[in-house]
Amino acid sequence: MNINNLMVTGGCGFIGSNFIHYVLKETGFAGRIINVDKLTYAGNPENLKGIGERFGNRYVFQKMDICDAGGMGKIFSDYNVDAVCHFAAESHVDRSIKRPESFIYTNIIGTFNLLELARARADKFVLFHHVSTDEVFGSLGDAGYFTEETPYRPNSPYSASKAASDHLVRAYHETYGLPVVISNCSNNYGPYQFPEKLIPLMILNAVEGKPLPVYGDGRNVRDWLYVKDHCEAIWTIMQSGERGGTFNIGGNSEMENIVIVEMICDLLDEVLPSPAGMSRRKLITFVKDRPGHDRRYAIDFGKLQKQLGWAPRESFASGIRKTITWYLENKAWIENIRSGEYQTWIDEHYGED
Ligand code: NAD
Ligand code: DAU
Repeated sequence: MNINNLMVTGGCGFIGSNFIHYVLKETGFAGRIINVDKLTYAGNPENLKGIGERFGNRYVFQKMDICDAGGMGKIFSDYNVDAVCHFAAESHVDRSIKRPESFIYTNIIGTFNLLELARARADKFVLFHHVSTDEVFGSLGDAGYFTEETPYRPNSPYSASKAASDHLVRAYHETYGLPVVISNCSNNYGPYQFPEKLIPLMILNAVEGKPLPVYGDGRNVRDWLYVKDHCEAIWTIMQSGERGGTFNIGGNSEMENIVIVEMICDLLDEVLPSPAGMSRRKLITFVKDRPGHDRRYAIDFGKLQKQLGWAPRESFASGIRKTITWYLENKAWIENIRSGEYQTWIDEHYGED
């Protein structure tokens, strides 16, 4: 697959920034990356520190809202964009429950704008990779897995907006022949994840001796994937995944939330004993459940494994150790994040009954 000018949307977010590091440093990609990001609370240019200096004009950053069709059109033509890897989204379920509007704009209208701009480039355009989520499938019972054939049944404003964007992407392939591919991935964790999501929130709170808020009974299950494995899967699909198709990506690591939180407590007690020698498990606090909380996600990624030979490299045990070490070693990054909107959200979200 020959891509010269790859637009990465949301490249200053958690997965997008990991993806840019990975593509530029580890794949042999010889083209240019144009990172387009609005820099919401979740977008942090610090995630890409050093990339501009190291890669010169092979890396470009453009601050832009993907909902701005005019501004985005100019970027497409200025940089002769021939492929898009689309990460930009509002991504946090709890925020979508409190304030859904921005999820509708960015995730649906923003995706529509990108599709229209790609379509307008017709023969110059080689690939639209849409990065999506397993949450579009809804919730599983105690058994079974999501496959590419599982019907969509999104339960939160976030997952409904991602489902809508998936349908648009698919429709642009069927209707206009746009070369698209969609990947639906399970929960990611690793470096640069904004500490509103379960794993980084628990690590930071546990380090600081703050309560660890576990929703409901803590028995909800997610299938965890180390972020670099996700980046490798996306790159693999971009190279040779069937156009018009969808691929599920998962970590083979189903875990109950409470088990993860206990694991984080125990690992931190091991590498950074609390001053009073107290077990950090004592900080675990069960709180009111998330409305419409999906019970279980589990991914069958057999299609990706069989067709393209991808499988996750990291186990949860090794990935969580790396992640904890990263958060302990990157205090400046954490302080930088906390100087923004983070504290307001934490006060608002956890400060009520
Ligand atoms: P994130 O919230 O960390 O980052 C999102 C990025 O998009 C930020 O840099 C933000 O500034 C940018 N952005 C938001 N609105 C924008 C707009 N209107 N215009 C331009 N940029 C905008 O998200 P993430 O966790 O890195 O997720 C990236 C993608 O992967 C999302 O599409 C998400 O649905 C999907 N996904 C995430 C996970 C996960 O576990 N985090 C799993 C599966 C799929
Ligand atoms: O499955 C993929 C999805 O994973 C992505 O599409 C989303 O963008 C990403 O945010 C993530 O969604 P979740 O809702 O699963 O992730 P979150 O980290 O918010 O929550 C994980 C689980 O932990 C979930 O069952 C809710 C629970 N939880 C979360 C937080 C923030 C708690 O118990 N306490 C908390 O404080």
